[in-house]
Amino acid sequence: MHTKNWLEWRYATKKFDVSKELAAADLEYILETGNLAATSYGLQPFQIVVVTDAAKKEVLMGKAYNQGHVGGNAALFVLAARTDVDAAYIAEYTSRIETTRGLPAGSVDGYKDMMVGHLTSLTEADRLVWAQKQAYIALGTMMVAAAEKGVDNSPMEGFDSNAFDEVLGLKALNLHATVLLAVGYRSPEDATQAYKKVRKDLKDIVVQM
Ligand SMILES: Cc1cc2nc3c(=O)[nH]c(=O)nc-3n(C[C@H](O)[C@H](O)[C@H](O)COP(=O)(O)O)c2cc1C
Repeated sequence: MHTKNWLEWRYATKKFDVSKELAAADLEYILETGNLAATSYGLQPFQIVVVTDAAKKEVLMGKAYNQGHVGGNAALFVLAARTDVDAAYIAEYTSRIETTRGLPAGSVDGYKDMMVGHLTSLTEADRLVWAQKQAYIALGTMMVAAAEKGVDNSPMEGFDSNAFDEVLGLKALNLHATVLLAVGYRSPEDATQAYKKVRKDLKDIVVQM
């Protein structure tokens, strides 16, 4: 199957078969694709919090309008935007570029200064929005990757992000819960798997100029 076929196969799973565990290799594969996702400047201003503890997921479900698929799944990923993208964070990244590519120290200082100039000129709120956008790119990447492994998944933004921060202690980690991805295997009882996909005709979403 090709990517398009997997996208037709996948659906926003509402009920997972909680008796089915996810193989560690598949979990890692999905996480690796999140790490490989493209981000603005390559700064990866988010982290992927993996919640597998059933009791913790139950608490989180209560902070997500009691959506059952937040509590019942093989793993819940909380994509959390970083709130600490500052000059030091950016310098760590540029020094990693130099190390990874065997470049002399200071050789990407121009790039560093440009990123610092841009990102520190934003308001804190706008910087958070920027970071959150990057988390969504990882979300999409991970959804496709999961599907290609035959792993069902459910993206969600119907949750109280501040309450998630509190339950998971994200503030202390300079993180803010942004979007969720529950993964696992669809339950035969999930009626929504039979629903036809509702999408626009290609001609109505593509603008030719
Ligand atoms: C960013 C995002 C947030 C979503 N939030 C929720 C949610 O909180 N709860 C839920 O049940 N579905 C949620 N969905 C699922 C969408 O409703 C679903 O993807 C859409 O209706 C298309 O259906 P399909 O994914 O099954 O093709 C969300 C999807 C995305 C991409």
